[in-house]
Amino acid sequence: MYSKWIINQIESLQIKKRINLLDFASGSGRNCIPLSNKNISVTAIDKNQEKINQYKSLNNINTICFDLETNEEWPLTRENYDVIIVVNYLFRPKIKKLINLLKKDGFLFYETFSVGNEKFGFPKNPNFLLKEGELLDVFAEELLPLSFYDGKTEERRASIKQMAGFKKGVL
Ligand SMILES: C[S@@+](CC[C@H](N)C(=O)[O-])C[C@H]1O[C@@H](n2cnc3c(N)ncnc32)[C@H](O)[C@@H]1O
Repeated sequence: MYSKWIINQIESLQIKKRINLLDFASGSGRNCIPLSNKNISVTAIDKNQEKINQYKSLNNINTICFDLETNEEWPLTRENYDVIIVVNYLFRPKIKKLINLLKKDGFLFYETFSVGNEKFGFPKNPNFLLKEGELLDVFAEELLPLSFYDGKTEERRASIKQMAGFKKGVL
């Protein structure tokens, strides 16, 4: 089942022209598969080839198998994406590089676990848990915050998550 928050955010954009959407650490494609259509050209990147194999031949989805956490430059074009989604993935050392991938006026929608989640289940490792307000701290200097939530969600299972939307450039 896809993330309802992510799908709602994209729907609220009311996309009418063809756009490029990047699903960063796309996993089994649960979010990008329902989003891909003739107007939304998806690039999905993840290091897990087995997961990617499940949707690599679908129309409107270009898959890339790549380890995003090495020193190697990401095989992604700068200023190429109208929308970037990141769900349930956190790698702090390179997180700010997402901004360079966004087109001017592009949108970033980020949803992942935050501190407090360890009481409910995995992840419990602080490396994978956002600190209080962290998405705002990381992105709001360069991107305009559109929405922010940090708290309990009951989607799929009880967990503590941050969900934040940003826009590049001026509204
Ligand atoms: C919890 S899953 C989330 C997948 C997807 N975003 C979703 O919401 O269903 C985390 C994903 O991050 C990917 N991942 C973890 N480390 C990675 C790395 N170093 N490079 C690329 N992908 C990585 C995993 O393969 C996995 O598919």
